[in-house]
Amino acid sequence: MKKRVLVTGGAGYIGSHTAVELVNAGFDVVIADNLCNSDSETIEGIRKITGAEVSFVQADCCDKDAMESLFKQYEIGAVIHFAAYKSVNESVAKPLEYYRNNIGSLVTLLDVMRRMGVRDIIFSSSCTVYGQADTLPVTEKTPKKRSSSPYGNTKHICEDILRDSTAAYDNLHCIALRYFNPIGAHPSAIIGEKPLGVPQNLVPFIAQTAAGIHRELKVFGDDYDTPDGTCMRDYIDVVDLAGAHVTALERLLENGGTKHEVFNIGTGKALSVMQLIRTFETVNGVRINCKVAERRPGDIAAIWADTTLANELLGWRAERPIEETLKSVWAYEKRIRGI
Ligand code: NAD
Ligand code: WQD
Repeated sequence: MKKRVLVTGGAGYIGSHTAVELVNAGFDVVIADNLCNSDSETIEGIRKITGAEVSFVQADCCDKDAMESLFKQYEIGAVIHFAAYKSVNESVAKPLEYYRNNIGSLVTLLDVMRRMGVRDIIFSSSCTVYGQADTLPVTEKTPKKRSSSPYGNTKHICEDILRDSTAAYDNLHCIALRYFNPIGAHPSAIIGEKPLGVPQNLVPFIAQTAAGIHRELKVFGDDYDTPDGTCMRDYIDVVDLAGAHVTALERLLENGGTKHEVFNIGTGKALSVMQLIRTFETVNGVRINCKVAERRPGDIAAIWADTTLANELLGWRAERPIEETLKSVWAYEKRIRGI
């Protein structure tokens, strides 16, 4: 019998896809989410896809008493911690909320894990910790740069908390996964990315523009030092990303690595904003009305991952071609809009 895994933030975008892959791999899953950026429909979606009675507790991960009773009730064996606020812009306007939620939830969970004798945690980090790197692609050894937003800073701080805590406490092991740009939806089109309000990220905005919700998509800058002048990113399919959590969890549970490891999770390839828009149009047979606009403050020109470490130590690599991923984005958007 495989261990029971607590997936915090499991009603959210990446957590829901990971919950599905965990069930597919034979794990028992308990989701804790306060639904501040998601809804319980996604929990129903996870149950529908997997056919499993995935447990759900509506709770705040900063609430120590709630976490302690959850750990007791469900005999949690390991934790995957997704729960966090994730808007770069919002974090600039509300830094204290971001520090309180993102750092507070991690510290609370680590306290409860130690008290309950739970050793293993996987943490959602981000390529944002690299800023604009001097050399590309970035490896895990690429120096981190000071963050330009409180959100990015919470990822720096949480990584430091995990490094220091795993060094200090015998029974605490961690893998931090630095995601690049997660996109796409489950092939069933039952779950996917469903931002509240106007999307800030490129792919949800493309999908909503294709669906007629926005008149045009602004391309933020075409004068960067890149082949077509638009920014370049490493777009990783969310189902591939979910699979990386399963392999990382298996490595932690088998005690296969050191107490504290960090992996880049990306494809190792970069696409420009214009390439991504054109590919979306081609594979889905739609037109996206787009217009070049000013650069967005805080954007970096380019980043993509060197994934050698994840390929070799986790035995994981991204598999889904970008065409399939972008088809899944449109299939999901059409389903939720009734198109
Ligand atoms: P999301 O907002 O869709 O999911 C996060 C979930 O956590 C939401 O369901 C929200 O309701 C919940 N949550 C937030 N604070 C909580 C709290 N205190 N207690 C309980 N639940 C809480 O975000 P996502 O895109 O799935 O991101 C998941 C994680 O991955 C986050 O930590 C995010 O910072 C990180 N990440 C995301 C991206 C990305 O581009 N999506 C990239 C790198 C890293
Ligand atoms: C991608 C590219 C935009 C919208 C963000 C966070 C990062 C990480 C992933 C969590 C950029 C351009 C976008 C639009 C555009 N999240 N763009 N028009 O900025 O790489 O990363 O999400 O950790 O921390 O900063 O992703 O999808 O917002 O932008 O031209 O309407 O698309 O300028 O070049 P980004 P994104």
